[in-house]
Amino acid sequence: MTARPVSGVHLTGWGAYAPSLVLTNADLEKMVDTSDEWIVSRTGIRERHIAGPNETTASMAAVAGLRAIATAGLQPDDIDLILVGTLTPDYPMPSTAALVKGAIGNKRAAAMDLAAACSGFVFGYATAHAYVASGMAKHVLVIGAETLSRCTDFTDRGTCILFGDGAGAAVLSASDEPGGTLGIEMTTEPSGAYFIWLPAGGASRPTGEASIAAGEHYMKMKGTETFKMAVRTLGSTATKSLAKAGIGLADLDLVIPHQANLRIIEGLAKSLDFPMEKVFVNVGSYGNTSAASVPLALSEAVAAGRVKKGDRLLLVAFGAGLTSGAITLEWTADPAAAARAAGIGPADVSVMPGYLEPVNPFPPALEWVRAGAASPTTTP
Ligand SMILES: CC(C)(COP(=O)(O)OP(=O)(O)OC[C@H]1O[C@@H](n2cnc3c(N)ncnc32)[C@H](O)[C@@H]1OP(=O)(O)O)[C@@H](O)C(=O)NCCC(=O)NCCS
Repeated sequence: MTARPVSGVHLTGWGAYAPSLVLTNADLEKMVDTSDEWIVSRTGIRERHIAGPNETTASMAAVAGLRAIATAGLQPDDIDLILVGTLTPDYPMPSTAALVKGAIGNKRAAAMDLAAACSGFVFGYATAHAYVASGMAKHVLVIGAETLSRCTDFTDRGTCILFGDGAGAAVLSASDEPGGTLGIEMTTEPSGAYFIWLPAGGASRPTGEASIAAGEHYMKMKGTETFKMAVRTLGSTATKSLAKAGIGLADLDLVIPHQANLRIIEGLAKSLDFPMEKVFVNVGSYGNTSAASVPLALSEAVAAGRVKKGDRLLLVAFGAGLTSGAITLEWTADPAAAARAAGIGPADVSVMPGYLEPVNPFPPALEWVRAGAASPTTTP
């Protein structure tokens, strides 16, 4: 890595991956006391993707990462640094980023994970920006990837309706061209640290029989408190990022917010007096995929023709911590470059031999539920 500061940091590549297994609201109606009507009216979510038995955060991240590298017109070895934002790493160690490096065949990058929950991609973008701007890296691969289905309590209707699995990625590159990143804002508010948390599995409460019996290996959430803080924080983070960029809301062409809940997104737009027509929403098809949500939405927005050269975008997220981050940027890439990633899929990712043994009990459990079982833990 060199250390010559550069004037511009541009998003040159983007890509995403979602597993093929889809969990619908109708499936959830068979698992917990809920209804499609309740879920859609309170969250806007209709379905979410669930990792298959041979998929993990690293394997999904690697596919999204390869797609972003191809879109940027680069080879895996052009990447100097790999950052993976995730709250569901394959293991506490090694990092998921290290596994991704191996899976995409990169021989030279430094690789590390970043723990900022649903703000993981935006915080990763900010970190990548700093590396590129300082000259320490020329091309950084930033990934947000999650396998939330493996820490979701599918007997808790307050959380299981919300979350899904997937991955999204971007490449940030040095360039002296105008545009690229314009303004970055990041905040962390620990007074809300236990609004969304996963109690067991860390140094404070290592997983054991007692923690498993208490269900502490599953995500816990104070939904209403999180909701209110989310709307407030998203608005202030977005506004500060725009101020740092030196532009106003009226200058924005598209806002790509964290896809947690349609009502939170609408609340954000209302609080900013910003038109929903300029806000990209895909929460209905994916649910909340945490760190994967913003880059997944970004890739879909580009594919849907919602982004063109010269557009000003705002990426804004919030998550456990409570973290929040916003990036204002001027888009300089050719949206059609995504075609370079056509055909790249799971078969192009080389995982360690024997690594991806089927580990996920959920797909058979889902099949049981569809076959009439009372819950994912009982057979029909
Ligand atoms: C979780 C969330 C959808 C709940 O919506 P809400 O409008 O706040 O609903 P409440 O929690 O007030 O619950 C209202 C009622 O619906 C019930 N309810 C909760 N989940 C339900 C479900 N899946 N189906 C049917 N009823 C449900 C509650 O038990 C409550 O019933 P009660 O009035 O008899 O006690 C909402 O709070 C939310 O989205 N919060 C933010 C979550 C989030 O984004 N987390 C991730 C941050 S990155």
